[in-house]
Amino acid sequence: MLTVIIMHSRTVAKVVEVVCEAPGVKTLILECPVMAVKAKPGQFIMLWLPGQEEVPMSLSLIKPPRLIGVTVKAVGDTTRALHALSKGSLLGVRGPYGRGFTVAKLKALTIGGGVGVAPLAPLAEEIKAKGGLVTAIVAATTAEALIFKERFSKVVDELIVATDDGSEGIKGRAHEVLDSLLSGKSFDMIYACGPEPMLFEVVKIASRFKTSLEASLERYIKCGVGLCGSCAINGMRVCVDGPVFTLEELLKMTELGKFRREASGRKVSIE
Ligand SMILES: Cc1cc2nc3c(=O)[nH]c(=O)nc-3n(C[C@H](O)[C@H](O)[C@H](O)COP(=O)(O)OP(=O)(O)OC[C@H]3O[C@@H](n4cnc5c(N)ncnc54)[C@H](O)[C@@H]3O)c2cc1C
Ligand code: FES
Repeated sequence: MLTVIIMHSRTVAKVVEVVCEAPGVKTLILECPVMAVKAKPGQFIMLWLPGQEEVPMSLSLIKPPRLIGVTVKAVGDTTRALHALSKGSLLGVRGPYGRGFTVAKLKALTIGGGVGVAPLAPLAEEIKAKGGLVTAIVAATTAEALIFKERFSKVVDELIVATDDGSEGIKGRAHEVLDSLLSGKSFDMIYACGPEPMLFEVVKIASRFKTSLEASLERYIKCGVGLCGSCAINGMRVCVDGPVFTLEELLKMTELGKFRREASGRKVSIE
């Protein structure tokens, strides 16, 4: 408990810019020096607005010494309230939390689906800064739902765009693109974030090609510090043991792609 208090901070952040990324998806750029100097790619923060729930968000921008960013898909009351913020708005922040991605000089492949692309952007930037090579698969259902294409194109060695409906880039789902890419190329590490059905397939593919994988999972986060058990998946707590898990850990998760828990703790199936 004492360690938790020492490691994480609570503070107030100020919105300095709002960027519309796609219909229903906005990036809030926040002035938040405490998080900007501490956070690592793949970690998340808890955001709070008066009258709303406190919600977890991955960091899509880490720019020490002052700025961080979160890229928010509007799906309910709190995320809609976050979308309504403008330059100068204040919000409560605590974190940074969880185990992030391994940042090293590697031949890396990032694969992101939908808003899951967001935490992979600071990761790709840091791997490049360390002298690594990065291929990125940026995928979405349609062309208009694609995010961060330009940001990735500025930093990565190869950018592969894919859409489910073929409206831009390769027609096909992200994991199908991964499967055909790995048939011709090898990588030291795959980094993945996106909808759980996509991650479920990515785990199987990485295992088949015997390639190391780190994937970021989502579960219902309440405390964020490993105390309440709300975020458990097969005995692992997403808030402290993850949200980034290794291939070996993911292969042991029998609930992956099958079950998640609601706010009440009730187990529900993942379609
Ligand atoms: C580690 C982590 C990182 C995340 N990063 C991002 C991100 O970068 N961008 C983004 O748009 N979304 C992200 N999410 C999901 C985001 O937290 C939810 O979309 C948000 O909490 C929805 O809140 P709401 O009140 O708008 O919607 P609600 O109507 O309350 O819920 C809509 C959906 O969001 C889920 N949800 C609600 N509250 C939580 C919670 N406390 N923890 C987890 N899921 C919840 C619900 O189960 C439901 O499926 C992340 C979730 C986790 C666990
Ligand atoms: S959210 Fe409470 S243990 Fe993870």
